[in-house]
Amino acid sequence: MGLVTQPGPPARCPVGPTGDPGWLLTRHADVVAAASDPVTFSSAVSRHLQVPNGLDGEEHARFRPLVDSFFAADRMAALEPLLRPVAAAAVAALPVGVPVDAVEDLGRPYAVRATCTWLGWPDALEPTLLAWMAENHAATASGDPGRTAAVAARFDEIIRSLTEPRRAAGDDAPDDVTSELVRARVEGRALTDEEVVSVLRNWTAGDISSVALCAGVVVRHLAARPEVQRHLRTHRDDAAALDRAVDELLRIEDPFLFNRRVATRDTTIGGARIAAGERVLLAWPSANRDPDRFGDPDAFRPDENAPHNLVYGTGPHVCPGRPLAALELRVVLEELLDATARVEQAPTPDDLECVVLHP
Ligand code: HEM
Repeated sequence: MGLVTQPGPPARCPVGPTGDPGWLLTRHADVVAAASDPVTFSSAVSRHLQVPNGLDGEEHARFRPLVDSFFAADRMAALEPLLRPVAAAAVAALPVGVPVDAVEDLGRPYAVRATCTWLGWPDALEPTLLAWMAENHAATASGDPGRTAAVAARFDEIIRSLTEPRRAAGDDAPDDVTSELVRARVEGRALTDEEVVSVLRNWTAGDISSVALCAGVVVRHLAARPEVQRHLRTHRDDAAALDRAVDELLRIEDPFLFNRRVATRDTTIGGARIAAGERVLLAWPSANRDPDRFGDPDAFRPDENAPHNLVYGTGPHVCPGRPLAALELRVVLEELLDATARVEQAPTPDDLECVVLHP
């Protein structure tokens, strides 16, 4: 369960990479207030360039339209037929009648392949990306800054091995999203190599894992809640209804834990006095389960809860990749529904992350 903590008043807690103290915001109202006030709560929390997520104000606004343009509706519609065989193959590779791990066996391989398909990256890179994800997970869990930095540097190397040949090839570069980004211009100038790498790092390093975890949540809830499975099967051909249902399952169990901010001035939020320079964490999973906003946090109410759902954030940094993430999740869900008559929870308590598929 990706729950950080129960919603409550802002609390002091260790929030920095070295355990420095800061504030944890867990109530829906507080998280929305902070995310919607980028002047007081800056996103410039890292010493590394982060385009667009670490930028504020005009600088953020300069890059954001370019980033948004990559997720436009017509682009997503063109991508859907390419994603479908990827999803179908990921589902077909699963054994039936025995426990399968929803994240390890389905979410992760599918998310990597879907991202490579979208960006125009070769299939041969998939094992490298999967190995990198495992190492990144281990490095983060170790809390060793040296190991984390080495893993980050390794990822930049992988990305540069894709962008540099495209930059060198100019007009002869392959016709794909990565080449388009390499050629993209912001306010009349080309992006620097560092900016291109930063954008691609953001689109891949964190988001492959997010999509993998989200796919796991959807599949496990489908197995654990017969009423949800009925709802999804009944609405199999209603894309909008499936999108809303997926969003609601991700609200109930939001695997995207938090984003960071730093206070630019003394301020008060939820009754807590936060000093300029203090760190703040926006705890999306707790906010998404705040009973003051949603009543019973486990109740499955896709239509009613949609306007307040924070899975993709809110405010100027709201997730630009939402159309892609939602498309990837819906397509793999549709393929799973089509390939099975029912999906059940694995029978043993050791297999909490596992489901059993019945054709
Ligand atoms: C289901 C998976 C995903 C979830 C739950 C998710 C969630 C979020 C959230 C909560 C934010 C807000 C961050 C903040 O306020 O600081 C965000 C921002 C962002 N997301 Fe996603 N995301 C997902 C998938 C994706 C994908 C697939 C992409 C791109 C390929 C993407 C790209 C971004 C970017 C670039 C930002 C920063 C936007 C900015 O700072 O203006 N996300 N995401």
